[in-house]
Amino acid sequence: MEISNLPVNALSQPVRAALLAAVERLTSEPELRGGVILGAGRTFVAGADIKEFGKPSLAPLLPDIFAAIESCPKPVVAALHGAALGGGLELALACDARIALPSTVVGLPEVTLGIIPGAGGTQRLPRLTGLTTAIRLICSGEQLKAEAAHRLGMLDEVVVEDLQGAAIAWLNSAQAGKRPVSAMRVPEEAPEDIAKAEQAALRAGKSRPAVVAAITVVKEASSTPFAEALAHERAAFLTLRASPEAAALRHIFFAEREAARLPADLQQTPRPIRTVAVIGAGTMGSGIALSALEAGYTVILLDQNTELLAKSGDKLRTQLQERAQAGKISTAVAQEAQARLTLADGWAGIALADLVIEAVFEDLAVKHEVFRQLDTHAKPGAVLATNTSYLDIDAIAAATKRREDVLGLHFFSPAHVMKLLEVVRGAHSASDLAATGMAFGKSLKKLPVLCGNGFGFIGNRIYNAYRTQCEFMLEDGAWPEEIDAALEAFGFAMGPFSVADLSGLDIAWRMRQARASTRDPRTRYVPVLDELCERGRFGRKTCAGYYNYADGKRSAGSDDVVRAIISEASAKRGIARHVLTTEDIQRRALIAMVNEAAQILTEAIAQRASDIDVVLVHGYGFPRWVGGPVQWAREQERKYLERDLDIIAAATGFGFVRGDLDILLKKTNEDNAS
Ligand code: CAA
Repeated sequence: MEISNLPVNALSQPVRAALLAAVERLTSEPELRGGVILGAGRTFVAGADIKEFGKPSLAPLLPDIFAAIESCPKPVVAALHGAALGGGLELALACDARIALPSTVVGLPEVTLGIIPGAGGTQRLPRLTGLTTAIRLICSGEQLKAEAAHRLGMLDEVVVEDLQGAAIAWLNSAQAGKRPVSAMRVPEEAPEDIAKAEQAALRAGKSRPAVVAAITVVKEASSTPFAEALAHERAAFLTLRASPEAAALRHIFFAEREAARLPADLQQTPRPIRTVAVIGAGTMGSGIALSALEAGYTVILLDQNTELLAKSGDKLRTQLQERAQAGKISTAVAQEAQARLTLADGWAGIALADLVIEAVFEDLAVKHEVFRQLDTHAKPGAVLATNTSYLDIDAIAAATKRREDVLGLHFFSPAHVMKLLEVVRGAHSASDLAATGMAFGKSLKKLPVLCGNGFGFIGNRIYNAYRTQCEFMLEDGAWPEEIDAALEAFGFAMGPFSVADLSGLDIAWRMRQARASTRDPRTRYVPVLDELCERGRFGRKTCAGYYNYADGKRSAGSDDVVRAIISEASAKRGIARHVLTTEDIQRRALIAMVNEAAQILTEAIAQRASDIDVVLVHGYGFPRWVGGPVQWAREQERKYLERDLDIIAAATGFGFVRGDLDILLKKTNEDNAS
């Protein structure tokens, strides 16, 4: 039985119908002695068809098909390659044996979609692995390579070749026969180990509803008859599937894949890239170099500070070794990557580079100097990329005589960890540069998002609007810890003032100073950050910023100095400080993001609304389970969005620009496949 529904053989309704018909044929035709289920193309089965989730369920349902496989008197073997995920693994678990190629990955990633396995996975997996492992795997959605899954008892055999032959051989072997997993007993484990697994899963999964439900249902595997537990699993699956959280997670799943698509005129052949030069051996440059080395590029790291360069080279070699020790890459890859790294302290070093990425100090004059050198020393046709996070790509490109080769590649720190990459086209960027930047990003296993050139591109521009609104709320009456707590309660990984202290206030201070001359005095400006910096409070690194960090730990509240600075700012603006509730804070911060997102869409800085969500979720700690600011806005009643816009318009005063909500709220096929 070959399942063919390319690209990933998702179990959509026609596939389910055909699979059930095949199982019925196997059952009824006497000359058939057993069955092998295979996937066509590059994979076994990636699970249920997620696109069907927003719609009513159509028969036959997976649990019924799996019951038919188990009750079929003839043995059925699942032959796995590529991915056996979600419903795909559940299908394999309903078979009598599972045989896989070593490269196969298996897992139950449903919690990442806000649901739990809905076709027996919560009951069959623990019967093979025990409760603790099943809780860990189902609550994290972790995907395992075949050998690891075999060790845990999930697979019967791993074969290096001839998967189909091995599956048929199994059917012909002495061990062939009916072995329904549902009839097995869950292996005994100590109750305290199960409790520990449960606590760890709740902590790691932030006690999200799917995680809580998964634990309850998985534990039933050892206490409740199979059919009854299966019914509980299905009920929980259906409830979760209809939740806004699951809709948001589906939205972001498809948005991530959509982000990679370029408009027709930019779908061009990417320029070939083998050698990458990175200018600047600081944290960002080194992180980019590490990513490129791991992806197989030859890397030249250049810095005129020879001491920093040598240090960075040593660190990169150590990091590669450490990643090999941690099993993230093989030892052979680590050694070979070390050999592909060259350190250069002069511009002549970049002559061979196909792509140069500048990651130097964020200052236009410094960038100009670098780009003049790149113009002189880079080979013709090389892509000249800047990692600027705010500056104008066109202004940077103006330092060269080849503006068409200049592109923004905005990495996020730490660059070897963060998946987001903003690919920024300048007004003069050649039409093949977008495809080149996107292809390069994908080769680094990153999530590239195309942006237009404008202050802060997508991410920093929206974050700036959000942080500015939070500063207004400081002046209006809320303390830093109240704002941080409200936004952390909403789901942000960290509140804005904790983030500012972590990344250092001096960077923002310098930028404010650089832009001071262009600031209209009529715009609302909160001087708190400047005051803090003038007192040497640059954040964590100086043990003081918006908070105190005596003994390296954040104080419970802001200290008297900070409160005095904030109160003085309020008084100077003639504000009688008043209480802002958690909801006030959350809605003002969120609507500021939404308003900026609407402007970004109008200005075509973002190609599509869902790209904005991808950027905020992957680069700024926006809670994935809310789906991003656009998805959040689409879940709100229009009248409340309008009311909140009025509130921030009044709080902002002069210069407030109201975004066009229609453009943001309009759902198109392009920006939301879910
Ligand atoms: N349903 C519908 N479409 C799916 C899908 C699914 N389960 N999985 C992938 N796709 C689509 C993607 O949207 C993408 O479509 P476009 O080309 O139109 O963008 C296409 O298949 C290829 O996917 P990727 O770009 O992700 O390909 P990849 O090779 O990088 O990754 C994969 C392949 C590892 C299988 C990855 O697609 C993946 O992780 N898929 C989701 C797996 C999953 O979450 N399964 C659980 C589903 S829920 C479930 O099964 C519930 C249940 O209990 C019954």
